[in-house]
Amino acid sequence: MKVKFAPSLMCMDLMNVQNQIGILDQYADYYHIDIMDGHFVKNLSLSLDFVKRLKLITNIPLDCHLMASNPEMYVDQLIEIGADFISLHAETISGQAFRLIERIKQADIKFGVVLNPETDLHAISSYLHLVDILTIMSVDPGFAGQKFIVESIDKVRLASSLKADKQYSYEIAVDGGCNKKTYKILRQAGAECFIVGSSGLFGLHENLNLAYELMLREY
Ligand code: DX5
Ligand code: ZN
Repeated sequence: MKVKFAPSLMCMDLMNVQNQIGILDQYADYYHIDIMDGHFVKNLSLSLDFVKRLKLITNIPLDCHLMASNPEMYVDQLIEIGADFISLHAETISGQAFRLIERIKQADIKFGVVLNPETDLHAISSYLHLVDILTIMSVDPGFAGQKFIVESIDKVRLASSLKADKQYSYEIAVDGGCNKKTYKILRQAGAECFIVGSSGLFGLHENLNLAYELMLREY
């Protein structure tokens, strides 16, 4: 199966959004959009309003990675804006997971779950059969350009064998430090989608067309 690439838009040139989206639209499988609350992670990045405006200029599916301590505060807005995937952190939905999943699925939107590097797959075993995209963080969430955490490779491997054993339908995505140093080992472990940020895509060349070509060549 062909591997997918999801550019992480917090790493794009934000002074040049329309132009960059025009280029990325030719290649991207999804757009990965980091939305932070400054509490669950100590940073802020893209906003709900950004997603709303982006939706007007692209048809590429938008995967909204919500890093917020109270995700229930934002889910309705994300549904209304027309996010294609709503990806919530397992660490933030305990006690309300099934309620949120139902709300998302009823709106005909795909449900994603994201695991911090230290969170075990067992934490989400009760609802894994409902997951459309499983994102394994390979850096601590919140900041681009961090060092890849090698321990996440085993988690990708485990997610992949579990998927095969139980016939789950989730797609396995990796977020953080996906680049030429890590593609191969992650692919072998079972990664199906790479979220590419600074080292994987945007930092490769100032010309984004060339950066994308370089990325595909490095892969
Ligand atoms: C971190 C973000 C990532 C980040 C990846 O919280 O979720 O999407 O942008 O960036 P790199 O590829 O630079 O690690
Ligand atoms: Zn992310």
